[in-house]
Amino acid sequence: MKVKLLLSSIVLVATTAVASPFEKPEDAIHYRQSAFTMIAANFGDMAEMVKGRKDWNQDVFAQRAQYISQLSLMPEEAFNVEGSDKGDTKAKPEIWSDWNGFTGKLTKFQGDLAQLANVSSEGDERATKKAFGVAAKNCKSCHTDYKFR
Ligand code: HEC
Repeated sequence: MKVKLLLSSIVLVATTAVASPFEKPEDAIHYRQSAFTMIAANFGDMAEMVKGRKDWNQDVFAQRAQYISQLSLMPEEAFNVEGSDKGDTKAKPEIWSDWNGFTGKLTKFQGDLAQLANVSSEGDERATKKAFGVAAKNCKSCHTDYKFR
């Protein structure tokens, strides 16, 4: 009985260690803000191309779309950290009180970015710009409900 109990607590500790790369809530906050910072830098450059303020380059655009598609997979686990609702964060409490609503928006964002990465890799400029417009709506939609300005 005692041995069994000990074993199960070892398993629990092991899974916890694997499940989260963050030692402190601040680490999780910094991680998710960094992911969004990288998303925004790439997205901003893409927007400049779409608006014609920078020369259109389908290859560069497709590469950035690939980057942000991957980056968009990263923030979720850094929100799913106890205590990361406090401190140097603009995350609204609604993220945790309405977790399904928040992760729903995140999932839609990820889907639209995967679509953008696919379409842009096929090389059609018009279709790429259209998919960019769809993806761009996600930023404001989520920030309005879940991020302090
Ligand atoms: C599903 C919700 C969601 C979507 C979609 C989303 N964001 Fe955010 N974003 C957040 C939240 C929440 C924060 C606040 C994170 C924090 O401070 O802990 C944030 C923070 C940021 C930040 C600030 C990072 C920092 O260093 O403080 C930038 C920039 C940003 N987002 C840009 C974007 C852009 C650009 C898009 C669209 C391409 C986007 N976000 C899409 C939820 C979202």
